[in-house]
Amino acid sequence: MLDKVKELIGEVNAFKSSSNEEVEAFRIKYLGSKGLLKELFAEFKNVDPEFRKDFGQALNNLKKSAEEKVVTLQVSLENSFEEKNFYGDLTRPSEPIELGSRHPISIVKNKIIDIFNRIGFTVSEGPEIEDDWHNFTALNLPEYHPARDMQDTFFIEKDPDILLRTHTSSVQVRYMEEHAPPIRTISPGRVFRNEDISSRSHCIFHQVEGLYIDTDVSFADLKQTLLYFTKELFGKSKIRLRPSFFPFTEPSAEVDIYWGLETETDYKITKGTGWLEIMGCGMVDPNVLKNANIDPTKYSGYAFGMGIERIAMLLYQIPDIRMFYENDKRFLEQFKSVI
Ligand code: PHE
Repeated sequence: MLDKVKELIGEVNAFKSSSNEEVEAFRIKYLGSKGLLKELFAEFKNVDPEFRKDFGQALNNLKKSAEEKVVTLQVSLENSFEEKNFYGDLTRPSEPIELGSRHPISIVKNKIIDIFNRIGFTVSEGPEIEDDWHNFTALNLPEYHPARDMQDTFFIEKDPDILLRTHTSSVQVRYMEEHAPPIRTISPGRVFRNEDISSRSHCIFHQVEGLYIDTDVSFADLKQTLLYFTKELFGKSKIRLRPSFFPFTEPSAEVDIYWGLETETDYKITKGTGWLEIMGCGMVDPNVLKNANIDPTKYSGYAFGMGIERIAMLLYQIPDIRMFYENDKRFLEQFKSVI
């Protein structure tokens, strides 16, 4: 008996094959439910007690050798299959492709554009490097206005002044110069201000400014448009307009939305008032219309402007404006699900 097992071990070790069918037949012959090993293990009880130990060990060796042989042959068959079939199984799932995400600034910008598109505003764009006329003078900013200060504006050249635009109102001047009323346009874009960088302000940020010019445009039209906008973007329907001042609008106002005081964060961001300032607006100053060759006795209009970062911070509860510019994947990947 023992000799027979030893012989079988020799046979197993010597077995070679390069066909799947043969390996399978080999496996069934030795390890199958009616295989040789099963039979031999059944013989165990008939073996003389003094030989049982050796017989048992030999049987275990045989089992191990057969199992190892099957695995080795299967692996080498698989490898040679892949070598022959360079592309492997063409029906298997592809490598997962990592999807990118839009930047939160783009997400919010697109949302704002979409909301205004729906009520007939088109998008206009202009240069980031501007002249004094389009950024300041045409907008009724007097020569010694503090915004023209070196402290506030990045100048590229002096006399004539060339600078990085400080707001996208410059685009609206260009638009008015080139188009006759009725005008309905929004100008999204990057703007630059010489400010200290902190958690709340940056020297580069993004704005969307809007301009509407037609006959008989009134402050009520402005208010209604802003109400529509805040409802669509924030889902909040209470706004208030606080008197303010901009050189290019008269009268001017700051727009606040009622954010609510439900959570601790609400208290923090609204400083306990429930109200949040989100943009500036007003009726276009007649001087600005005149500067762009539009007759202020015939036409009137409104304008508004907001910072995209500020709105994105509110919508997504982002605590620090610098996070938008760090390109930290852990931050950016959180916007994967938003389109
Ligand atoms: N241009 C202003 C700013 O940059 C915003 C604004 C636009 C205010 C239009 C009133 C009207 O802050």
